[in-house]
This record gives sequence, structure tokens and C-alpha cells, in this order.
Amino acid sequence: NEKKLTKFYIGSIDQGTTSTRFIIFDGTGQPVAQHQIEFSQKYPQSGWHEHDPKEIMVSVEQCIEKATQTFIDQGNNIADIKAVGITNQRETTVVWDTKTGEPLHNAIAWPDTRTKGLVRELKGKDGSDELQDICGLPLSTYPSSVKLVWLLKHVDVVRKAYDDGRLSFGTVDSWLLYNLNGGKENDVHVTDATNASRTMFMNLHTVQYDDLLLDFFDVDRTKINLPKIVSSSSPDAFGSLTYGPLKGIRIAGCLGDQSAALVGQQGFSPGSAKNTYGTGCFLLYNVGEKPVISQHGLLATIAYDFGGKRRPVYALEGSIAVAGSGVKFLMNNMGFITHSHKISDLAATVEDNGGCVFVTAFSGLFAPYWIDDAKGTIFGITQHTERGHIARATLEATCFQTKAILDAMERDSGHKLAELAVDGGMSNSNLCMQTQANIIGIPVDRPAMRETTSLGAAIAAGFAVDIWKEFDELKDINQKDRMIFEPNISKEESAKMFKKWGRAVEMCRGWLD
Ligand code: G3P
Repeated sequence: NEKKLTKFYIGSIDQGTTSTRFIIFDGTGQPVAQHQIEFSQKYPQSGWHEHDPKEIMVSVEQCIEKATQTFIDQGNNIADIKAVGITNQRETTVVWDTKTGEPLHNAIAWPDTRTKGLVRELKGKDGSDELQDICGLPLSTYPSSVKLVWLLKHVDVVRKAYDDGRLSFGTVDSWLLYNLNGGKENDVHVTDATNASRTMFMNLHTVQYDDLLLDFFDVDRTKINLPKIVSSSSPDAFGSLTYGPLKGIRIAGCLGDQSAALVGQQGFSPGSAKNTYGTGCFLLYNVGEKPVISQHGLLATIAYDFGGKRRPVYALEGSIAVAGSGVKFLMNNMGFITHSHKISDLAATVEDNGGCVFVTAFSGLFAPYWIDDAKGTIFGITQHTERGHIARATLEATCFQTKAILDAMERDSGHKLAELAVDGGMSNSNLCMQTQANIIGIPVDRPAMRETTSLGAAIAAGFAVDIWKEFDELKDINQKDRMIFEPNISKEESAKMFKKWGRAVEMCRGWLD
């Protein structure tokens, strides 16, 4: 049976915050060929974070070319690739000219905090209290809406295109789909429900754009080309690749990366959760077919929407802005390590954090705190402090925020999670995952194959082209050789560490610019 299944392949584009990958999976969910490219991060001012939309496209095209070449070199046949799925960094906002297909500005990346002042203004506006009940998201610098408003206010060419009715807006999925489908020639302009639920323009209950939300942000839908919202798994809504080695192959799945990771971890039943340690870290908890609007600092979002007879499934989400980007900061800005994976070795040179707590608030603090004026701060430095202590404190910062998110999730949902499925770059560190288990006091469960985000997009595409029809058929995928990290410190010890973290967070508030 396994042999029969491996005759099918699905390609998966994973366009993340710092790198792009293309992975070709076989029918058993194993990657057979892949390529990854890092692209430029632009920080034009403190708190600003941009990407070049064209560079992103080139990275996607090169990854497809290289991975497909490896696939062919292995003796495989392109005709056996049944579909392609897309998964992407969410919220990052791209604007382009509908007439020329050219970007009108760099993309504003999701961690960017230039909208801090704007958000404060908007919080004072009538109707701001009603937004979260409609769209699930708290008003902050994070969603696409405020990024678009900033562009309309500050960039003349963007405003002019809007006034002329030729402004196209999209998250990264829409930008990729538009270009892969041939750009302005075919003008395919779509987004899936998971990505749309991060814009703050979509009503979470109807899964459609909402005039009340658009009006609040002064966005006139007759002047702007918004992507059509479709389900995440569809044989025809996303078009097909119009150039490159996979020309003609259907794009059949599209999911925001955190949703894709939940699908890749097979978090299909209400009550299941996953935590992905990428550039940021995002915990998604499946709440079933009705959204739960958080009262404790979490986000309500679409988990996935497989369309057809299936209803959209919702999640409560805890978003942490800094995880792998904290490690990259120690590497690129501080010169502590020469490669991200060496962080574990550095952290292992010391026995504990030596009294240091690092609140890695480079984008303010996201869930569940939402402190937009916090800045990264290290507490507890003495003559005893070494690089190893700072490395440990950096890893612990994500683990502590995960604990705060789980506490909030328990309050919102009334359920205590029994164990936490993990994936993403930082989950490669045994030390980090053991620390995580110790801090949350429940087992941490890590799969052997950790490309779960890409796998999730491949699953969405596979469903659309009938490779799989029921979730049950996936149950053997990626189950072998999972590693469980059991907590190995006392509850008192972990409570003491977490209390110290809580104090550090409080001391971070109100940093002056
Ligand atoms: O919401 C932002 C998220 O989608 C980015 O994911 O994996 O690039 O940190 P990642």
C-alpha cells in the first residue's frame, strides 16, 4: 500500500519570514527533494521591517527550479507531481499596481512596529471596542489593516493608485498566486480564509469582508482591489503555475504558515494544539467549528477551511513575535554564534540562566501581553554573566511566553492541554524543548520530520486533487520516531522561574522612544 501511495508527489512552497523553501513530498508525507533560500531583511529605521516583493518571487522561482532538478536527477517524473500547495508568512502586506503588476512599496513585514502611533489613535476612535468580536484580532501593530492604512497615509504613489482605483492589496499568498498565475495578464487575485483572517478586514463568522471593519479603517472597497476569499483547499480557485519547470501544474492548496503547521501536525480534532518555533512562535489550539473570541489576550482565527461539505475550523492563537529572530539577533548583531543551530551548544556551556531574564520585546510584546511600547531588555546582569547565560535566557523567553499563552488558553477554553506538539527551527534544540516542558509542566511532543508547515500545504493541495479524501487516511504520516520531552523539574521551581519572568515583563512597559 505504501508503495502505491509513493507514486504521487505534491510540491509545497513555504514562503516564510526569513527564507523560502520548496519541498516535494511523496504520498507518505516524506520530503524527497527540497531547496531553501534566505532573502534580505530590511530594517530602514528602528522598529521597521520590510521585504522586497520581487526578491521574494525570485526566491520562490529559484527554489522550485532547484528542488525540481534534484527530483528529476533522482529519476522521478514531473508528471507524477499532482498539485502544488502554498504556505506563507501571514499579515505581511504587499501593494501593487493593478495595471502594471509592479509593487508600489516594499512589503511591510508582520513584526514591523511603525504603526504604533497610528494604533494608539485608532484605539481612541468610536467602534474600536467592537472590532475584536467581529474579526477575532485585537487592534495592534500586527495585522495587515494598520500596515495598509500607514501606506495609504504616508506613500504618495500608493495613495494615488488607490484614488485612481488601481491599487491591489494582498498578503504574501496573494502576491505569489498573482505572479505564479502570470501577473497582470490573468489578474488572479485570491487569498485563502486563513490568510484573510489575519488582515482584520474579514468577518470571522461569515468568512467574508465586512463593511464595518473596512469603514473603521477608512478603506473603500470600490477603490481597492481586495483578493477574493476562498477556502484553503480547492482544485480550481488558485489557478496554476504558468512558467518554470512545473508549468501547467495546479495550485490546489493555500494556508497561512501557522495554519499549515496545525494541518501538518494533524491537529484536526477540537482540543489539539501545536506550537511552531519559527522566526516568531505561534501556538494554535483547535476550537472546532465555532470561533471563540478571547477574553485573555489571544487571537481568534481560522485554523483551516477545507471547503466543500466541510465547515471552516477555528483556532485560538497565541502569537509570540520573537523566537528564531532572537537567536538570529545573537548571531548577526552580537556575534555570539556563527550558525543558528549552535545556540544549543552555547546555552549548554552553563547550567542555568545565571539569574538573567531576557524579555525579547523587539516588536513590543505580542500575546497575551500586547505591550507595544516594550523594548528588548535583559535583566539580572552581573560580573558573573556569560554569553551562555544570555543564550539560555533568549531560548527561555519564548518558553515563558508559551507558558503565558497556555495559561490564557486554559482560561478562555476551560481546558488544560495534556501535551504540546511542536515543530519549527528552534524545536531542533533538545535543550530548548526540555526547558519548554519544564516551564509548562506538560510533555512536549516533537515529530522526526519537522517540515510540518510545508507538509500542511501539501495536505491541503492533496485533498483538493483527491489524493486523500478523509483526515483518517493521514493518520500514519509523520508518526514514527517522535520524541517526547517530559518535565523534569519541580512545579515550585518552574513557578519561581515564571514569576521572575512576569516581573521582568512588568518592568518592560513604557520605554521611551
Ligand atoms: O504571523 C506571522 C507568521 O505567519 C510568521 O511565521 O514561521 O515566518 O515566523 P514564521
